[in-house]
Order: sequence, then structure tokens, then C-alpha cells
Amino acid sequence: MTAEWDLLANATLHEIEEFAANLLPSYAHDYYASGARDEQTFRGNLAGWGRWWLVPRMLNDVSKVSLNTSVLGNAISVPLIVAPMAAQRMAHPLGELATARAAAAAGTAMIVSTSTTTPIEEIGAVPGLTFFYQLYPWSDHDATIAMVERAIAAGAKAIVLTVDVTIDIDPKRRPRGGLVTPDWVTYPMHHEGARVLLTLDWAYFKRLRDQVKVPIVVKGILHPDDARRAIDAGADAIDVSNHGGRTLDGAIPTAEALPEVVEAVDGRVEVLVDGGIRRGVDILRALALGARAVVVGRPFLWGLAVGGEAGSRRIFSILSSELEQDAAMAGVSDIRAVPRDLVRMSRLGLVPELR
Ligand code: FNR
Repeated sequence: MTAEWDLLANATLHEIEEFAANLLPSYAHDYYASGARDEQTFRGNLAGWGRWWLVPRMLNDVSKVSLNTSVLGNAISVPLIVAPMAAQRMAHPLGELATARAAAAAGTAMIVSTSTTTPIEEIGAVPGLTFFYQLYPWSDHDATIAMVERAIAAGAKAIVLTVDVTIDIDPKRRPRGGLVTPDWVTYPMHHEGARVLLTLDWAYFKRLRDQVKVPIVVKGILHPDDARRAIDAGADAIDVSNHGGRTLDGAIPTAEALPEVVEAVDGRVEVLVDGGIRRGVDILRALALGARAVVVGRPFLWGLAVGGEAGSRRIFSILSSELEQDAAMAGVSDIRAVPRDLVRMSRLGLVPELR
């Protein structure tokens, strides 16, 4: 056991976040932590889950709780996958590689960003890893298809198309003026002169759907009609997301958007959700509301900053053990069958303190 690991052994997720804030250079911490503008959506994501109170069930046998499930046919040991996040080498020299090793050790999946700072082939070579590849399409369509094929060749089991980046101005509160990455941070999936396509529309999505041979998850859906439309256009799963509050400030918190999207999807495809999930009980709430699994972002950056792969593993283990304990206290023994009536929106309008 290293000293680093001892430090992490008893830390809570919130403490790991505080350690990371002290350790990271300010440009990196600002970039990772910030939301857009006044951070209303960022804070709304964190607070939103707490508006759903649990109504636990008693006298169910919960002596064994199973967290095993699957996403798009890929078995995972816990309904928790790592969100695509750019520039992980700013948090730790091994960056995405450490996150990937931790995800493989936890028996679950990772979504790798187009703006990964580790080549996709190095991530794909991690034994036992299930990963999906997040796509920001380029204005050059051939380059987009070439990049997608490269990711699939490296082992990506699905493409996660992010649809909520529609301008080339970064609205994040910090760093002011946008992130200037240090020289040693490079983006091996970007090409010379790469420009993100800002004219995404349904016709483009259909074109992509026809050309990509693996399942496509649409990330960034908040309106139920968009979910229906995405499925009609061939989407294989929906990720209810507002980009962690980093794009449109004022966009609905995902804990509020999820139920209507789930209703619209009506079981036709799997629904994922991300934004503000910081406790095992938040995962339970999302699953009760109809999510197949949750996608978690920033906590994995804090784990990475504090302890590399060990830190990232610790995030998995904190969230998984909380989920297991809270499921048992709620009367849930199989995570694939969390009943809808386990949660109810507060009728007193209470929003608890965040922690
Ligand atoms: C992101 N996110 C993101 N999403 C995406 O589709 N592609 C990307 O490259 C990135 N990059 C990125 C960097 C950083 C530093 C953060 C914090 C987030 C958004 C991410 O996938 C996810 O939607 C949110 O982070 C989820 O919210 P929480 O869990 O961080 O609250």
C-alpha cells in the first residue's frame, strides 16, 4: 500500500473533490470544475436529484444485492459508467489510460472523448475494458468517418454522438477567456486544422447512422420530442444530458428532464443520464426514474488528480458500495428492477442541502 492509497482509503467523494481542488493547477481545476455563465444548471444538476425522495420498501429479502446489468448488450458490474471528458492528462500523467484501467478493474465501461489526450489504441489495449467513443463530428465528413473507424478498430463498442455543442464560443465561467492547454497536452484524435461541425441536424444524424456500423447513443437530449425523433432516426440509446451544465446555462437539470424522456422513449431503447450524480442514492433515483445506467463525470477527474488509477478506482468503489448499501435499505435486491414508485417528487418543495 502506498501512502497515496492510504490517504484515499477513508476519504469520501466530497473529500477527494477538496483534495483535488488543492492539488490541481488553477487552470486545470477551473476548466474541470466550471459550469457555464452563472452555473445555474450546474448547481441545478447537483440539487435536482435531492428533490426525489425515496419511499423505501420493507420485508424484501435484501441479504444479497446484485448490481450487475448491461448497457447496449455489454455486461457491466454496476450501472455506472465514466463520462467522456476532455484533457485528462492535465489531472494526471497517465490521464485517460488510468481512468480506463480503473473502469476495467471495476468491471464497467468508459466513454472516451474525441478530445482524449491519450491515443485510442492505448486505451483499447487495456485488458478487459469496455469502452464507447464520444464523437464531436468535424466539418470535414471524411475525417469524421475516418476517426470513427479508427475508434471502432481500437475496440469501441458504440459511438456516443454529442449534440449539445452548437456554437464555437465557450460559455464556461472559468478560466476566463477559455482554456489554454499546456504544450505537453495534445489531442491525438484531432487532425491538423480540425474544426467541429456546428451545423448538426437530423439529416446529418441519419447520414451518420447509415455509415456507422456500431450502435449510436445520442448524448445531450433534454426534450421528449427530441428523444422520439432520435429513435425514429435510428438512435440505439439516449443520454439525457446538459453537458454537466457547461453549455446552455438555465437548461433543465437532468433529474427533472429524465422522467419525461423516459416516458417518450417508452422502453424502445435504453436511456442513460448524466449530471450531478455524486452519491449511490442518486444512481438509485435515476434507475427508479427509468435510466438503464448513469454516466458520471467530474468525480473521476478528482480521483485521477488525487491518486491516478487508484484514485479513479476509489471513486468506483465509493459509489458502488453506497449504491449496494442504499439499495438494501430501500428494499431493492436487483438493480435491473428498481421500481418507479421508489421515488416521489417532494410535495413540500423541499430541496435538501447538497451535503
Ligand atoms: C465534459 N463533458 C464532455 N462531454 C462530451 O460529450 N465530450 C467531451 O469532450 C466532454 N468534456 C468534458 C470535460 C470536462 C472537464 C467535464 C467536466 C465535462 C461533459 C460530460 O461528458 C458529462 O456530460 C458531465 O460532466 C456530467 O456531469 P457531472 O457528472 O460532471 O456533473
